[in-house]
Amino acid sequence: MSLMSTARSRVADVVNLFATPLQASHYVELVNPLWSSHKLQARVEEVWDETADARTITLRPGRNWRRHRAGQHLRLGVPIGGRRFTRTYSISSSPERRDGCITVTVKVLDGGRMSGHLVRNLEVGTYLPIGLPQGDFVVPESTPVRPLFITAGSGLTPVMSMLRTWDIVGNMPDVAHIHYAPHRYDVIYGAELVELAARRPRYRYEAVLTREGGDGPSTARHFDRAQLDALCPDWMEREVWACGPQSLLAAVEQHFEAAGRSRFLHVERFRAALAEVPADAAGGRATFVIDGAPVSADADATTPLLRVAEDAGLNPEHGCRMGICHTCDIPLVAGRVRDLRTGDVIDEPGQLVQICISGAAGDCELALTAPAT
Ligand code: FES
Repeated sequence: MSLMSTARSRVADVVNLFATPLQASHYVELVNPLWSSHKLQARVEEVWDETADARTITLRPGRNWRRHRAGQHLRLGVPIGGRRFTRTYSISSSPERRDGCITVTVKVLDGGRMSGHLVRNLEVGTYLPIGLPQGDFVVPESTPVRPLFITAGSGLTPVMSMLRTWDIVGNMPDVAHIHYAPHRYDVIYGAELVELAARRPRYRYEAVLTREGGDGPSTARHFDRAQLDALCPDWMEREVWACGPQSLLAAVEQHFEAAGRSRFLHVERFRAALAEVPADAAGGRATFVIDGAPVSADADATTPLLRVAEDAGLNPEHGCRMGICHTCDIPLVAGRVRDLRTGDVIDEPGQLVQICISGAAGDCELALTAPAT
């Protein structure tokens, strides 16, 4: 522990004696939010537009931050219009970065409230609540590997953290990388990747530009076996990490399963893979009871109940929005909901429902707790 942090913790101990019911950390937070020990925040140090719709945000995390492993993600919260939204973003910087900062790169999604805000409105100097790094989309540190990366769009971000780390440390393995983007100008970190490939011969970079021949989608330029054979003839000898939109990941999973190589494939998703909802499935009236007060809204069969609650002006606790973190779990009081990933119907009162990946399967009532402040 440094002299500075020892002194800070002693001062905190003394202040705690007099600070009840608040902890010293609450007062310390007023001086510098990054020193707070009761919640983890990060200061926006810099914003940088990578492309027309993608922005890299440099964050200085508070003192409770734990060094990430290349490929991991974190939760980021943003207050918008008096409500707090949370999303998960891969960390694109290397853990070897010297200044203690981390970066995330956010791409605007269609109808994305939070991504739109981060890319268009976020200002330097803002403090944002963050979570600790999580995830196992990482390359093993002890075993030598020959990775094949298959990425598209902002699926590049966790891989960028890995490449930057190997570059800084100077131990670039034998890497093959296929990246999909509509046009060359859509490739985030495009110039950096080209420069890295020129400087590090063990890194082989292939950009597949799916709309470069015109604005219609070219199926010939989407992932398939023939293309993989051409771009990476030794793919059978490599371990594969894939990250990108659902359509790409589905094609990649199908291919590696057919080739009997599923166990060598690691996939990172930004959204849950959803099952087909039956054509005759009906939604219903969703009621969220918060502190005894019901709030109701119409819910169709396919919209996640988290979104239904948010559109009704509520602010349920949530994290990943894709069924991983369980932050959004709330108990079913009555009625029926459907797990949109599996199609399973849940109708047992008291059962916990992940509202980010569950839709109404008729009228339903759920007990919502007020989010912690
Ligand atoms: S928000 Fe993570 S599981 Fe629902």
